[in-house]
Amino acid sequence: MSAGSKSPQATPARPRMTFAGLAAMKERGEPIAMVTAYDFPSAQIAEAAGVDMVLVGDSAAMTVLGHESTVPVTVEEMLMLTAAVSRGLSTPLLVADLPFGSYEGSDEQAIATAQRFIKTTGADAVKIERGGSSVDRARAIVAAGIPVMGHVGLTPQTAATIGGYRAQGRTAEEAVALCESAVALQDAGCFAIVFEAIPTAVTDAIMPRLTVPVIGIGAGPSTDGQVLVFHDLLGIYDGHAARFVKRYADLRGEMVAAVSAYAHEVRTHEYPQPEHGYGMPAEEAARLRAILDASAPPRVKRA
Ligand code: KIV
Repeated sequence: MSAGSKSPQATPARPRMTFAGLAAMKERGEPIAMVTAYDFPSAQIAEAAGVDMVLVGDSAAMTVLGHESTVPVTVEEMLMLTAAVSRGLSTPLLVADLPFGSYEGSDEQAIATAQRFIKTTGADAVKIERGGSSVDRARAIVAAGIPVMGHVGLTPQTAATIGGYRAQGRTAEEAVALCESAVALQDAGCFAIVFEAIPTAVTDAIMPRLTVPVIGIGAGPSTDGQVLVFHDLLGIYDGHAARFVKRYADLRGEMVAAVSAYAHEVRTHEYPQPEHGYGMPAEEAARLRAILDASAPPRVKRA
């Protein structure tokens, strides 16, 4: 997070999170709290809540853009959302998801996309999904000087090829493959790895093999930290919620109630009241009427 990329008025009460700080948290066994954010207000809320890391997830495709999966979101859309989030943050580490189709093709494509995010948004790091060829992409991006977060288990960008939105690593062989992917991402230089929808016993078995922080989402309690989608934890998103989601609020209910109350008051003339309007000296109002009446008579009868 470059100093120049953040709001100049912000006076952080906490020190800015760093990659070394994150590693130290793992070392100390201090849980790492991460949340997604997609715009300026959600970033400000994450900042005020004091989380350690913020992810501009490609879950934005679903939560804020209304797509049915994460696949359609574009680089341009993610760049815009990431820059907005960056403007609302001062202290957490900011990670941007590279969207589907923007890094898988070649190391050159992956580096070029990652560079766009780092150069133009204020993100500190990028995240890519899967093991396999993504391990090479991660190594290439890291070699280009950009920190990378890996993501294994349920990888929504390729959900169609892994049997849909379901837990991964449920047989010993699948779990071994998952472990190999995580270790390969770590060896490729990833500074942290997301574990999504992985049986707790599998996470427990893999954790001793990883020295980098692991952030879980539906991967049990033994990871170094947890991440949840902003809209899920606040109860804003109306779609299907995965088993691992815990709702800490029902903001959607409160928002619908508030907008309904507003619409009702507009229809019943309860809103706006005099205190919601702007005044004008009485003599100026009288002069205005006189000027207007002299130029043309009113077309509609005044109330
Ligand atoms: O896109 C996203 O929000 C994510 C998190 C669920 C880890 O990848």
